[in-house]
Amino acid sequence: ARKIIIDTDPGQDDAVAILLALASPEDVDLLGITAVAGNVPLPLTERNARIVCELAGRPDVKVFAGCDAPLERPLVTAEHVHGKTGLDGPPMDEPTMPLQAQHAVDFITETLRREPAGSVTLCPLGPLTNIAAALQRAPEIAERVQEIVLMGGAYFEVGNITPAAEFNIYVDPEAADIVFHSGIPLTVVPLDTTHKALTTKPRIDAFRAMGTKVGDSVAAWTDFFERFDMEKYGAEGAPLHDPCVIAHLIDPTLMTGRHVNVEIETSSELTLGMTVADWWRVTDRAPNATFMGDIDAERFYALLVERIGRLG
Ligand code: BDR
Ligand code: CA
Repeated sequence: ARKIIIDTDPGQDDAVAILLALASPEDVDLLGITAVAGNVPLPLTERNARIVCELAGRPDVKVFAGCDAPLERPLVTAEHVHGKTGLDGPPMDEPTMPLQAQHAVDFITETLRREPAGSVTLCPLGPLTNIAAALQRAPEIAERVQEIVLMGGAYFEVGNITPAAEFNIYVDPEAADIVFHSGIPLTVVPLDTTHKALTTKPRIDAFRAMGTKVGDSVAAWTDFFERFDMEKYGAEGAPLHDPCVIAHLIDPTLMTGRHVNVEIETSSELTLGMTVADWWRVTDRAPNATFMGDIDAERFYALLVERIGRLG
């Protein structure tokens, strides 16, 4: 199994990604979860990460709290999407499992120094603040990372927080710029991909049909999400962004993409946080990321249902 660290700002879709990882020990070995400020402030994202672990019956998972604000900017949150708690939908008990005392950035740095070089994959599902802070503090860890597989950015689908930018990149564009220039192999799952994997009613029903607390919670979370997107886009359902990252690690044939150059806009007020992907290779800038495009949505949801159905 591939060793991973999930860096996250739960978030209903982050929560489903964590469940997918916990349900797939043969494919991913989750070394720890690092929380970052994003969808909601840090005290809520670290709390929500612990709620999800407890829901999965895994209070042993190590959860760390990281940066509470972007590197150089005030935090922008997304309660309008995720609700006040970040995990609105089903009623959830307060978590009782502990938060680790170590700072998330120290955990990331120490883990990469300790584990064999090239054996740990980072999976960022929120703003890239923790990852960039680790790279700033310990630049030598860059060459020890196997790969970063992240949810963020957009190209043809452009923005969901501004007309030009996707939320995770927009919230901390300086951090994203550091990550995209780190030289670490990068795989990027942008809105272009996630908007092709919508939570239609039959797909949500499949979670409810599990008859488990986990299945009911996933259905209630995706229902909550869908309400928002139906209003906003009039779409069939909502994109379930973050689980695509974990699904790619389990089954790399689900998505297709291109190895291209991707630059982050960090100064324009109008297009701040835009991921400028050279999809048609019209520049000679060196490729630095595999930017995903298509996804086999039927197989993606089948994988989610098969794996998450294993949890109680
Ligand atoms: C991303 O932003 C968050 O709201 C979601 O959890 C996802 O990581 C989508 O733009
Ligand atoms: Ca997220």
